Amino acid sequence: MKKIGVFTSGGDSPGMNACIRAVVRAAVHKGIDVYGIMRGYRGMIKGEIIRLESNSVSNIIQKGGTILRSARSKEFMTKEGRREAYEQLQKFGIEGLVAIGGDGTFTGANIFFEEYGIPTVGAPGTIDNDLYGTDYTIGYDTAVNTALDAIDKIRDTADSHDRVFFVEVMGRDSGYIAMPCAIGGGAEIVMIPETETSIQSVVDTLRLGWDRSKTSFIVIVAEGDEEGNATEIAAQVQKALPYMDARVTILGHVQRGGAPTAADRMLASQLGIACVDGLQEGRKGVMAGIMNSELVYTPFIETITKQKIINPYYAEMVNILSV
Ligand code: F6P
Repeated sequence: MKKIGVFTSGGDSPGMNACIRAVVRAAVHKGIDVYGIMRGYRGMIKGEIIRLESNSVSNIIQKGGTILRSARSKEFMTKEGRREAYEQLQKFGIEGLVAIGGDGTFTGANIFFEEYGIPTVGAPGTIDNDLYGTDYTIGYDTAVNTALDAIDKIRDTADSHDRVFFVEVMGRDSGYIAMPCAIGGGAEIVMIPETETSIQSVVDTLRLGWDRSKTSFIVIVAEGDEEGNATEIAAQVQKALPYMDARVTILGHVQRGGAPTAADRMLASQLGIACVDGLQEGRKGVMAGIMNSELVYTPFIETITKQKIINPYYAEMVNILSV
């Protein structure tokens, strides 16, 4: 393989730049030409493709965001869009792809690979950590630490004012961000999509704590929780416990930015190299990941369809530690 393309797609995550850098440097190391495809599948369709040299990725390992930009492309979901994307790749002579992103990125990569057979290897880049085939995704550790930092600050003010705070964290349909935020942030309650936590049980837990002279509480709500968003949940709880003073903080996109942690830089660098190695070894339609300290390649279809389970004991830990 003499020419490969690399792109980032879907929601950005801290460490994507470190991964791009690793892909470019590993390719240069092997004598392979690398092209950066701007704005994911959208840029692929438009032919927004640039040559990347070793020095194109200098001084980016520590930066959040992605120098290749990112986008979610509706056009790529159509046959016509994918045909245009294929034609652009042909124009540049690109023989293999490295796709850095999450489930939407790999859904697209899987269809594209099935239709056009362009060898593609993925690196898991998402703060959500919801991909099967890797213990951690690139950006997850940073996002959790960013959220924890905010939760520590919220706890200070919650404590000063004897308040109950409902803190909403990202994660789409998964509670992977919420769980370590709850345990590491000393929260009394965690609400995640994977486990049912009724409003009544939240009210009961808070009332019990209040009766035992606890005066401030933190409830971590994963954005995908089935009981609703943090604002809706807080309103219901406030109604049931009028003597408490509830507030809501939605952490939002702050969780997606910032300099990647050491763990994310390591993971991104290792998986970036693994993507290029994978392409050179003839792997296709797979994502590189680390499971139990081992480098593994998992078919795209499994990464998006197989469920990654959050250790059920973590929920029990929140209960034990909030007594
Ligand atoms: O997938 C990453 C993520 O940040 C999710 O946690 C969140 O649900 C979503 O993206 C937000 O997407 P957007 O940036 O398009 O609002």
